[in-house]
Amino acid sequence: MKSYDPDRDFLRVRAFLVQTHLAFGTPAPNWGIERWNYARYFVAPMLGSTGTEPGTPPGALRAIRMWEEMIGLWENETGQIVGIANIEHPDPEHRGFGEIFLQRHPDHPDLLDEMLSYAEDRFRDPGKNRVFIFVYETDTVLRDAVARRGYRKDPAVAIPNTEITLHALPAPVLPSGFSLRTMAEEDDVDRRRELFGRAFNHPDPADWPSSFAYRELQRAPDYRREHDLVVVAPDGSYAACCILWYDAGNRIGYLEPVGTHPDFRRRGLARAVVLHGLHKLADLGAVRVPMASTAPLYEAIGFHKIGDEHLWIKTFGPSAG
Ligand SMILES: CC(C)(COP(=O)(O)OP(=O)(O)OC[C@H]1O[C@@H](n2cnc3c(N)ncnc32)[C@H](O)[C@@H]1OP(=O)(O)O)[C@@H](O)C(=O)NCCC(=O)NCCS
Repeated sequence: MKSYDPDRDFLRVRAFLVQTHLAFGTPAPNWGIERWNYARYFVAPMLGSTGTEPGTPPGALRAIRMWEEMIGLWENETGQIVGIANIEHPDPEHRGFGEIFLQRHPDHPDLLDEMLSYAEDRFRDPGKNRVFIFVYETDTVLRDAVARRGYRKDPAVAIPNTEITLHALPAPVLPSGFSLRTMAEEDDVDRRRELFGRAFNHPDPADWPSSFAYRELQRAPDYRREHDLVVVAPDGSYAACCILWYDAGNRIGYLEPVGTHPDFRRRGLARAVVLHGLHKLADLGAVRVPMASTAPLYEAIGFHKIGDEHLWIKTFGPSAG
């Protein structure tokens, strides 16, 4: 086991995720490349800097460093990565703090206990004194490992995973007066971060991602401005958005995130921007797009269910509050 070196390891882990993505079947328990990019280049800087904070906010750098420092990385005797344990939300106040993510190699189930043990020590939420992990119902190896280690399944929480196969897609239709633009055509980060904040139901500008956070996202190795799609309203405001990510090695596309400004919902904008994105991904060579979301939008577009993830929690004694 080694500590993670951001300069050396970000792209090595990305390559590991591509290499192992389909090794466990579908739904795939390892992260896709979009989530790896998004966690480092958007979630972490956004958790550390919101609103109009100018320049390079120290909170964003702290959050990125915390995310990187918590990663555990396992290599074999020839120096190849065989496992990663990581978090997604480097902020002890966030409800996702304490969640364990494991990126595994199919030839090394023997590492599971060591990876879980590392994660329990390092990722534990000190307030609630617990860790938690989502496990696919079909992933019996991980399910048995967490059950043996004293995790309890919460029967009330399940995340349905869906996917769509990219053939015979309907054409996207935008309502009259609306148009589609990409960040390659108009790189207006201020309007873009406002749309992100509003789409995710944050009316207060102090809660929108900072310009720094959005610029960080644009620095992610797999981000492309021409894949950052925005629907523009007749009055010029940004109404809906969707970012496309493409794993050419596995011919899998991803949509992350998708959102519509509350003033423009239920007019078909998300459906149109998602369909536009699916066509674009198909043109790149993608054959399918998975989605871990309960939003009825995806069912309406034609995504079908491929499995459920269940919540398993391990508590370590009395909670501090
Ligand atoms: C989910 C979201 C993107 C939908 O955007 P939208 O532009 O309003 O969606 P559309 O108008 O294109 O909806 C297309 C279809 O999806 C379904 N749908 C969309 N929103 C729905 C809702 N709130 N309840 C039930 N069905 C819904 C409907 O079938 C709808 O067709 P209809 O209006 O003809 O019934 C938007 O509500 C949003 O931004 N929510 C917050 C962010 C989020 O949850 N993003 C998605 C997960 S990453």
